[in-house]
Amino acid sequence: MKNTTATLRQMKGTDKKISMITAYDYTMAKIVDESGVNTILVGDSLGNTILGYEDTISVTVDDMIHHSAAVARGAKNALVITDMPFMSYQTSVYDAVVNAGRIMKEGRAGAVKLEGGQDMCPQISAIVKASIPVCAHLGLTPQSINAFGGFKVQGKTEAAAKKLIEDAKAVEEAGAFMLVMECVPEKLAKIVTETVSIPTIGIGAGRYCDGQVLVNQDMFGMYSDFVPKFVKQFANVGDVMRGAVKAYIDEINAGTFPGPEHTYKIDDEVIEKLY
Ligand code: KIV
Ligand code: NA
Repeated sequence: MKNTTATLRQMKGTDKKISMITAYDYTMAKIVDESGVNTILVGDSLGNTILGYEDTISVTVDDMIHHSAAVARGAKNALVITDMPFMSYQTSVYDAVVNAGRIMKEGRAGAVKLEGGQDMCPQISAIVKASIPVCAHLGLTPQSINAFGGFKVQGKTEAAAKKLIEDAKAVEEAGAFMLVMECVPEKLAKIVTETVSIPTIGIGAGRYCDGQVLVNQDMFGMYSDFVPKFVKQFANVGDVMRGAVKAYIDEINAGTFPGPEHTYKIDDEVIEKLY
């Protein structure tokens, strides 16, 4: 079944949860799409997982387009949502619409995601008015790492919790079709989920969200630079890959790879003429 912003919205309030996973290339998009995930996020976490940066600050619109287009070619049924990177929307409403438009046209996304609440509502509503669906992102918003002074749980004080609830209402009002909450106490995420009528997708936001998202390399056990508390490794693909590479090297050295079945033949008569 093809997932759209409409089908995801309809899942809220039913007993079906929304599954989201990041992917950054065609092969991985195909694997997760064929597995039946509802939505693929081309996250600016590609700054960490693909490009090896320590944060998402350096990621560009061109980086996002490059990976989004590859994912879009591999995703048949999942809705592709692509992150707007740092400084592609914060600077002005105009920049936000132009860059969201590029991500849709060149990156072939089905929606964009951006970080921020009330402060970003003018951008959200302008992008939505341009017929581009927007997913909001609240709580720990990694593009604000330098303002936060580190990665930590958000919304723990009364003031911060109230602000998060107000931000959630504001992004819904501005037209966001969905909302990601990152690193938020479970009971606060539950209140937000009950307060808004758009679906909430949690990452480190507990069990009561309408859906969950994890970074591909985190849930596959491929990325070990930093493993947050909220990550569950559903497989140890990193070890499987290391084992495969080691076996490959060993077989090259032992002369058992390539085997006869991996080689191409030529007529002996032709070969004789070459000596
Ligand atoms: O960039 C990303 O992968 C994200 C998710 C962690 C929500 O924004
Ligand atoms: Na992101």
